[in-house]
Amino acid sequence: MKKFKNVFIFDHPLIKHKISILRDERTGMKEFRELIEEITTIMTYESMRDVELVKTQVKTPLEVTEQYRVPADSIAIVPILRAGLGMVNGVHTVFPNAKVGHIGMYRNEETLEPQEYYCKLPEGIESKTVFLVDPMLATGGSACDALAALKKRGCKKIKFMAIIAAPEGLEKVALSHPDVPVYVSTLDRCLNENGYILPGLGDAGDRLFGTK
Ligand code: PRP
Ligand code: URA
Repeated sequence: MKKFKNVFIFDHPLIKHKISILRDERTGMKEFRELIEEITTIMTYESMRDVELVKTQVKTPLEVTEQYRVPADSIAIVPILRAGLGMVNGVHTVFPNAKVGHIGMYRNEETLEPQEYYCKLPEGIESKTVFLVDPMLATGGSACDALAALKKRGCKKIKFMAIIAAPEGLEKVALSHPDVPVYVSTLDRCLNENGYILPGLGDAGDRLFGTK
């Protein structure tokens, strides 16, 4: 994936450690949810290296000094429902005041085509850095459509974060949205005939919410 300037694959040893537990079929709902959050927090730190800071004056007990801050109210989080919800707290750990929008997409199990069923975004999202989050990037259909939906509603600065990606989906998103940096913690081997990522971790939504 080196050919894409907008793709960033993390190779962090701590993420590798946590991903190995996440994949394990014996990992229960609570631990699965905690791991998704922890991995998202690490990814959020890594993906904010280019954040634009504003100068601010701070009075320490000894003197006034010029320091730097992330501008207030400049970050928003948009999870792709359902599984993206599992990543919201992970971003909130870094940006506790980030407002949250929701975009609902489901994959038609037969055609694998994504379907938008819900969209509610915070006011003023056009001027914020938006973290679009979804743990799984499989065919890339859901991510591509969610990015198009955000752009249609005026979002200009979007970062997409997925925990596990298949090469097919990653390439599709990188090519369709070259202006969007795509952060992925692990690149897996391929998709199976049902559109599941291999080796993957199964159905992220079901494992997060205990629906199967
Ligand atoms: C999963 C996942 C992504 C999508 C990825 O959601 O959370 O949104 O599939 O697949 P794609 O890249 O092929 O579009 P799913 O449709 O299973 O819905 P859920 O989150 O409600 O379980
Ligand atoms: N959605 C999931 O939850 N898992 C996959 O492997 C593919 C899509």
